This record gives sequence, C-alpha cells and structure tokens, in this order.
Amino acid sequence: MFPHRLPWSPNSDGHHEYLPLEWSPMAAASRFPDGFLWGAATSAYQIEGSPLADGSGASIWHRFVHSPGRTFQGQHADLACDHYRRWESDVDLMQALGLQAYRFSIAWGRVLPEGRGRVNGKGLDFYKRLIDRLLERSITPNVTLYHWDLPAALDDRGGWLNPDIEHWFTEYAQVMFHAFGDRVPMWATLNEPWVAVDGGYLHGVNAPGHANLFEAPIAAHHLMLSHASAVRAYRAGGWPHQIGLVVNLEPKDPASDSPEDLAATARAHTYFNEQYLDPVFFGRHPEGLARIYGAGWPDFAASEVARIQEKIDFLGINYYTRALTKDDPTRPPVRDARVVPEGATVMTTGWELYPKGLEEVLVWVKERYGDTPLYITENGGAYEDPEAPVDGRIDDPLRVLTYRGNLRACRDAIARGVDLRGFFAWSFMDNFEWSSGFSKRFGLVHVDYATQQRTIKASGEFYRDVIRTNGEALG
Ligand code: FCB
Repeated sequence: MFPHRLPWSPNSDGHHEYLPLEWSPMAAASRFPDGFLWGAATSAYQIEGSPLADGSGASIWHRFVHSPGRTFQGQHADLACDHYRRWESDVDLMQALGLQAYRFSIAWGRVLPEGRGRVNGKGLDFYKRLIDRLLERSITPNVTLYHWDLPAALDDRGGWLNPDIEHWFTEYAQVMFHAFGDRVPMWATLNEPWVAVDGGYLHGVNAPGHANLFEAPIAAHHLMLSHASAVRAYRAGGWPHQIGLVVNLEPKDPASDSPEDLAATARAHTYFNEQYLDPVFFGRHPEGLARIYGAGWPDFAASEVARIQEKIDFLGINYYTRALTKDDPTRPPVRDARVVPEGATVMTTGWELYPKGLEEVLVWVKERYGDTPLYITENGGAYEDPEAPVDGRIDDPLRVLTYRGNLRACRDAIARGVDLRGFFAWSFMDNFEWSSGFSKRFGLVHVDYATQQRTIKASGEFYRDVIRTNGEALG
C-alpha cells in the first residue's frame, strides 16, 4: 500500500483512471535531464547459450531446466540467443539502437566453475572481450554479479541456505572487481532477491525449485548478507566507481476496501516492497514481516540484520506492473491474489500495463528511503508479437505504448524531485524467460530462434528515437 496514493477507482465505463496515450502532465518538461543514461538489459542465462562451454560449471538453472516438468514445453537455454558466440554482432546491434549503456550479468560458473577457488580464464575472457568492445563503442557496461544462476557445485553444498555463501559470493565478487573494477563503472550485486527467494525457495517455480517456508527467510538473509559483504569488499578494494543493488518493486493497491483485502494488501506490500530494502536502508526487517512468515520465521539476531545495512551508490529498480490485491487464504504465507481490472491492457505474462505505478514506486522509494540515486534497471512488456518479420518489420504497438507510458511516468517522477539517473529497457532482445521458456517475448529486437536472425522491432526504433532526442520523442 502506497500511503500517498488515492484508492484505485474505475471510471464509469469500467476503465481505470489512467490512460497512457492521453496522459501528458503539464509539469513534465519534455526532455530528460542532461546525462540521463539510456540503456537496455539482459541476463547471462537468458541469452548466452553454451552453458557448459570452455570449462564453465553448470548452474542451478541449467539443472532445473533439464529436470522434467520445470519449464514451458520442457524448453531449456542450451542455445538461447547464442549470444556466447554472437556477442560481437549483438554489440553492433546495440550500437544500431543507439544504446548508451548495456546491463548484463556474469555467469558465476563461467568464471569459477566450482563456484569458488579455481578461476576459469576462458570464462573470464568472454566477459573481458565483451566489456572491451562495449567500451570501444562508448556503451557503458552495467554488470550484475548475480542474476539467479548459482553454480550447481555450490547448490550441492546448500547454496543460499549455507551461511558460508557470504564468503563464496564475496570471493567471486572480488575476482570480478580485480578483473574489471577499473573499467566497469556500474556494478550491481544481486538482481531481484525477492524473485530468487519467492520463486526459488518458497514456491519452487524457479531454480533450485524448493518449496519450503522455513528455507525462504534463510535464503533471503544469506542473499542480503552476501550483497552487503560484496559492497564492503568493493569499498575495501578502493574501486573508483559505483556499486548498488537491483530490486523489483510494484505498488500494491487493494481490490476493494474490505478489511480482508486491505490487510492482504498491507502484507503484500511488506513482503514484496519492504522486505529487502528495509534491511539495506534501516538495518532491520519491516514491521509485520515475521508475522507473515509465522512458524517459518527464524528470529534473526538484530545484529545480524544490521550487517545488511551498507551504503549503496545507487538503487536499481525493476518495474513491470502494479498488483491490485485481494485476500486469498489458499495462498500462504502472504495470502494475496492479483486481479486485473476490466479494460486494462494486459501483457502475455498476465501483468496489467500500469505506468502510473512506476511514478508511484519512484516517489515511494524517495519518501521512505531518502535520496539514493535511482535507475530503472528493467522495464518493458511481453506481448504477442508477429512470429516472423513481415516485409522485414516487426510491429509491436503495445510495446511502444508500454515504453511511452512508462517513460512519461519516469519524467513525471523526475519533475516531482526523484533523482532518477537512467533507464534500462528489458530487454535488449527476446530471450529465455525462465520457466516460461521462449513463450514470452520482451525484446526491442526480435529473435528467430530457429535461424538466430535478429530484427529490430518498431519498439526498438521508437526507443532509438527516444534516446536520440533525450526523451523528446515521447511527446
Ligand atoms: C525480471 C527478471 C528478468 C526478466 C524479467 C521479465 O523479474 O529480472 O530476468 O525475467 O523479469
């Protein structure tokens, strides 16, 4: 529940109050601030393919997708976008889109096949070549250390449930800082710890596929301790640039004003939006979190939670939707269900297109946590794109609508004093959408998975114009 927000109310014809195309607030200047950073994002497991090439160690995602029944039609990412072999032409495409920055992740197991100890030079070389090429093309590399592909060898030792992982992760981070700390200006420790835990340890829909109420808070705690420890290592090493964290946030609005729905909305907000950020900024868990986990809550020592509070240089926010929330006792422990209002534009992921929520999230972060520089590190939408180009074109009007609305919301947030420094579209290209396999397309660039042919979509052309005009093309 976002305190500054008025309750959602549909207008007379059942549509929600916010109409992206007609929305043009007077307050917003048409251009973004000078120096605003325009990029696009991917992650290693979703695009690279060749998961075991050149001595790479398998990840939990490699294992997961090759277990029966885990992904849409049993799909796996052994080839994915074949970026491991096509990285050079992919960087050419980034340049064609006019990207100023590129957010990608390192596959931990390419660099440290056993997760710790021995460094695999060939794995490191892949990222070295990529980073050097990006810099040659004046594309700022924004590197995420952990985007969910834990080395399987570490999972065999308990993975995120083993307290030693704080040291394993820090050791890995230090290898990366030593290799690229001078050249990479933006580092993120973790991508979306909420998803890593909720999907991986509570509901089992993501790797490593556990569904265990008792494990989830422990995995969350170790993720966040690892994050903080890597930040400390970065400071201790005297690296000259910026390190932060990437979280996913969404406003939780009540579906009705029944006490049950209001309570479910409050729980969902605590669990989703505050669980990971309160320890980072306040050194403690949010009020009410222990109650949500109930018997699953391990009663952490306050001093242990305080160790998570480590100053970050920026916060990356991934935003896709809001959640209109109703109580659902069949879905423990949060007991929340998402409803989509009639008349909304809905993505193939089932998410409501709701640009206003992006502005709300940005303002909420500023109000609750103060003025840390912010980046939107992911934003976009999956829609039913044409399967193949028609006359060399992929028309994706709903994705254009999505970016237009969401970027206007960013501009409005800036006008309200939010220190937003950049925006990364998800995704640079269509890719392997985790347990949904290739069934969800998020790219600015279309990928024909049979031929690996890439085609810039209409949304890619639109985004290029937005970048070129620093936002003016949004209208
Ligand atoms: C985010 C993930 C990203 C992608 C998008 C659609 O939760 O960080 O890898 O799957 O959603």
